[in-house]
Amino acid sequence: MTALFTADDLAHATGGVMTQPFHATGVSIDSRTVAAGDLFVALQTGSGDGHAHVADALRRGAAGALVHREDALPDEAPLLIVADTQAALTALGAFARTRFEGGVVAVTGSVGKTTTKEMLRTILSACGSTHAATASYNNHWGVPLTLARTPPDAAYAVVEIGMNHPGEIAPLARLAGPDVAVITTIAGAHLGHMGTLAAIADEKACILRGILQGGTAVLPSDSRFLPRLRDAVPSGINIMTFGGRDIRDVTHDADGSDVRATVTGHDIAFRLNVPGRHMVINALAALTAAAALGADVKLCADALKNFAAVTGRGVRRPLLGGAAILLDESYNASGASVRAALDVLRLLPAARRVAVLGDMLELGQHSEAEHASLAGAVSDSADVLYVCGPWMKYLFDAVTPAKRGTHAADSTALAPYVAAAVRAGDAVLVKGSLGSRMRVVVDALEAVTA
Ligand SMILES: Nc1ncnc2c1ncn2[C@@H]1O[C@H](COP(=O)(O)OP(=O)(O)OP(=O)(O)O)[C@@H](O)[C@H]1O
Ligand SMILES: [Mg+2]
Repeated sequence: MTALFTADDLAHATGGVMTQPFHATGVSIDSRTVAAGDLFVALQTGSGDGHAHVADALRRGAAGALVHREDALPDEAPLLIVADTQAALTALGAFARTRFEGGVVAVTGSVGKTTTKEMLRTILSACGSTHAATASYNNHWGVPLTLARTPPDAAYAVVEIGMNHPGEIAPLARLAGPDVAVITTIAGAHLGHMGTLAAIADEKACILRGILQGGTAVLPSDSRFLPRLRDAVPSGINIMTFGGRDIRDVTHDADGSDVRATVTGHDIAFRLNVPGRHMVINALAALTAAAALGADVKLCADALKNFAAVTGRGVRRPLLGGAAILLDESYNASGASVRAALDVLRLLPAARRVAVLGDMLELGQHSEAEHASLAGAVSDSADVLYVCGPWMKYLFDAVTPAKRGTHAADSTALAPYVAAAVRAGDAVLVKGSLGSRMRVVVDALEAVTA
């Protein structure tokens, strides 16, 4: 395998000192998934200190380790010693970005980043070799890691950029230096830390300052913040938009959508095998970004039929031996994504539609209103509502009594009620923030056999 980084690259990019020369064919921050030839980066994160796993990584075939402490390591270990491994990983990402000559697209937004990133991976792969971020790697280590892993000879790289707090996007956007930046949506995820939707829009808009001169901003025309986002586009950067107004004709079914649309002046038709209008909008964002990169839009549209749901987000599984269906959205939740999931619930063929919702977290002072405001969407899509958590009580009280199933303190208390209620002909949506642990309800439902 050719080197991703030569020994000289590693030393030059990080300013570190090598105990012996080694090159790397990949980069890893997790010793459990290290591949032979990887540079193992010993990061100190909230979940632990990678320095404790250097010996393990080397045993598993890592070419060497990037460290800022050498204690308890064998003398002969191949190490690249730096002052700070996080800063060195960032420097490695910057080095990889600077030498990369392919097209870079960065994706941010309140919801739909990973979905749009994966759609871009699918459609750009039809046009040239494409590297994209793993999972939701979108933070201070995820973005540099994605860049560092980009093969220099790839045609395209797709980077996801996320945030929990103000100020996080701008440095990551500068590091990624995208040719094209997409803002998928502006919605109330992380409202608790951000205060207002306008503040969220302004934070997302920071990605625009990272776009290289002559590049393109791809903005959501369905957002009421479009004018504000437009105003934030620096001079010398092109603007393209995507959204519902591009759709000429669409039919939604339980398995997906058939779409005719106009994307950057091209009339296209495509089949998307994931259900829901929000997925069509994500696909239009991805196609617009691909067009902005100069890719063949028709070829990209055709490749969309190969796109499948991302784990934990809208995967469907049989319940009761196939007599009922589960829509597993237990991975996470915000107001926008709960509405989107309820739309999909409505599309599923079922005698009865059951919504099982856990608290949406990180909404601060907006929690009560954000939960209660889902009542209309629940009424449109669900026949009965099961909820858990203190915030979901506000939604429970806001729906008509006829639709109230049970409210419980947490998912463990709710699970037996849902398991006892499920019956043949049901479609059951389970959704909530990760911290609401809705997986417990999914497990209880899947344990019911008759
Ligand atoms: N455009 C959209 N509008 C509303 N909901 C969406 C949209 N796109 C995706 N979703 C829903 O939002 C949830 C998260 O989707 P996804 O993982 O793509 O978002 P993300 O922005 O990457 O999230 P994270 O911040 O967790 O990385 C899923 O439930 C998905 O179905
Ligand atoms: Mg994501």
